[in-house]
Amino acid sequence: MKSAIFDTDIGIDDAMALLFAHYAEDISLRAITTKYGNASIEDTTRNALLVKEMFGLDAPVYRGASEPISIRLGEGYPSHVHGKNGLGDIQFDEPQLQAETWTAAQALVEISKEAGQKISIIAVGGLTNIAAAIALDPTFSSRVGELIVMGGAFGYNQHRGNVSPVAEANIASDPLAADIVFSSSIPTTIVGLDVTQEVTMDSLFIQSLADNAGQAGQFIKKTNKHYFDFYHTINGKHECPLHDSCAVAYLLNPDLFTTIHQPVRVVTEGIALGQTIHGNGLRTYETDAWDNGARCTICTQVNAPAVLALYQSTLALAGLN
Ligand code: BDR
Ligand code: CA
Repeated sequence: MKSAIFDTDIGIDDAMALLFAHYAEDISLRAITTKYGNASIEDTTRNALLVKEMFGLDAPVYRGASEPISIRLGEGYPSHVHGKNGLGDIQFDEPQLQAETWTAAQALVEISKEAGQKISIIAVGGLTNIAAAIALDPTFSSRVGELIVMGGAFGYNQHRGNVSPVAEANIASDPLAADIVFSSSIPTTIVGLDVTQEVTMDSLFIQSLADNAGQAGQFIKKTNKHYFDFYHTINGKHECPLHDSCAVAYLLNPDLFTTIHQPVRVVTEGIALGQTIHGNGLRTYETDAWDNGARCTICTQVNAPAVLALYQSTLALAGLN
């Protein structure tokens, strides 16, 4: 059983990933930490509380960063992708639950001390909270068993940026935080657009969840309408990537992914702001900003049908309740 913290800028696909982690029998969710990203910190924290309340999650919610540590690419929030409220503009009753008093960074530090085993972190928004936890406690990194990040793009399978030709949205939301985290000693796996854009769901997939996954399936069907409409405008198809759930799938079964191990740096200024670039372990260069000893595991290929099947079979457990 993995003890995990779910760090999120909870929008539509984040909510799907959170439900995936909640219903997975091999994951014990210890906390949900929020940040701005798909919507404002007020909206993402409310969305986390809403999912917790609707589906009876035990994990407490901690509110995190409302802005990047330095610059980010663009401004505002992607309401065209996730709706103004981050959940496809479906109106839900306000949750009765409140966020806890610790900040997300405090929660990451303290819960990793209490866990009794090295903690796993699934990070499916930008990495501001994780960078803040590293700054808050220099021993934090040593208590993290694995950090699985949905973010970045390296050009595998022809997938490059989604908010610029080279930058992926989560990393672009706080490039410096990502550079700090990828250069730290935390064992980090990057599940980027290289693989998440290979794992696409269509209307049949959503309908199957609506039929088999009880209230969770209905929730996913309702909130995803906006997401599907957005993807239809950019690819002309009624299908969209299961981005954040791929990070949960990696935690559950890393064998579904092919990986390489390389140092990763993030461009923190200029026209390529937010680009993730991995080193080339085969040779050395005259100057090498990648030569700092830290290596990330980078997903380059994925068994997409198996990830989709794992999602369906896990969510089917929601239908039994
Ligand atoms: C990432 O950006 C957000 O829109 C999604 O939730 C996902 O985490 C994909 O680039
Ligand atoms: Ca996300």
